[in-house]
Amino acid sequence: MTDQKNDRRDFVKTAAVAAASMALKDVASPAIASGATPITLPALPWAENALEPFISKNTIGFHYGKHHKAYVDNLNNLVAGKPEADLPLEAIVKGSAGKADQAAVFNNAAQIWNHTFYWNSLRPKSDAKAPKEIADLIGASFGSHEEFVKQFSAAAMGQFGSGWAWLVAEGGKLKVVKTPNAETPLTTSATPLLTLDVWEHAYYLDYQNRRKDYVAAVVDNLLNWDFAAKNLPKA
Ligand code: FE2
Repeated sequence: MTDQKNDRRDFVKTAAVAAASMALKDVASPAIASGATPITLPALPWAENALEPFISKNTIGFHYGKHHKAYVDNLNNLVAGKPEADLPLEAIVKGSAGKADQAAVFNNAAQIWNHTFYWNSLRPKSDAKAPKEIADLIGASFGSHEEFVKQFSAAAMGQFGSGWAWLVAEGGKLKVVKTPNAETPLTTSATPLLTLDVWEHAYYLDYQNRRKDYVAAVVDNLLNWDFAAKNLPKA
């Protein structure tokens, strides 16, 4: 191939990645920009140090640059040359869920989706309140914001081993659920609104074994309620 063709190919690839990254920052529901493989590692919606002092740049560097990236690389290797290679990420997650012979594909695809959803569930500390629409739903579903915090924190603490705590919408109400390992509400009838990664890699560099302190720091300071509101099912 000539240098000119190489340049053109690189430009197209770079432009596609940039477009996907830009789209991700403005996504509503679902949170993940779809696109056929090769699945790319979406850009973070903020700088790696933006969540300090609650989550360090060091943690984000490893969590995003190593763990999240590894799931992307693994999935692309697993589906190379197979029919799934032409499917958007969400379709790969849903199509492989619950199938023992596709456990590796599911685990890596779901972890890509969960992590991108997690990054968007967080934002640098701000004093912005939850939009009225979701604040009202929190009140109607849990009784108070404090009760939501209690239930969400309990789910995050109660997930034995690796997994996720989620705020989801189902049947017109909001609920808190937890999932182990790579499992995700994406494969259920519930609509994910926010998530918290409680795998040890999410907090061990900053909090060691103190998951409770990590959970409290995020719940009190970093949840992105605008993202949750955007994910609400449309009436
Ligand atoms: Fe993680």
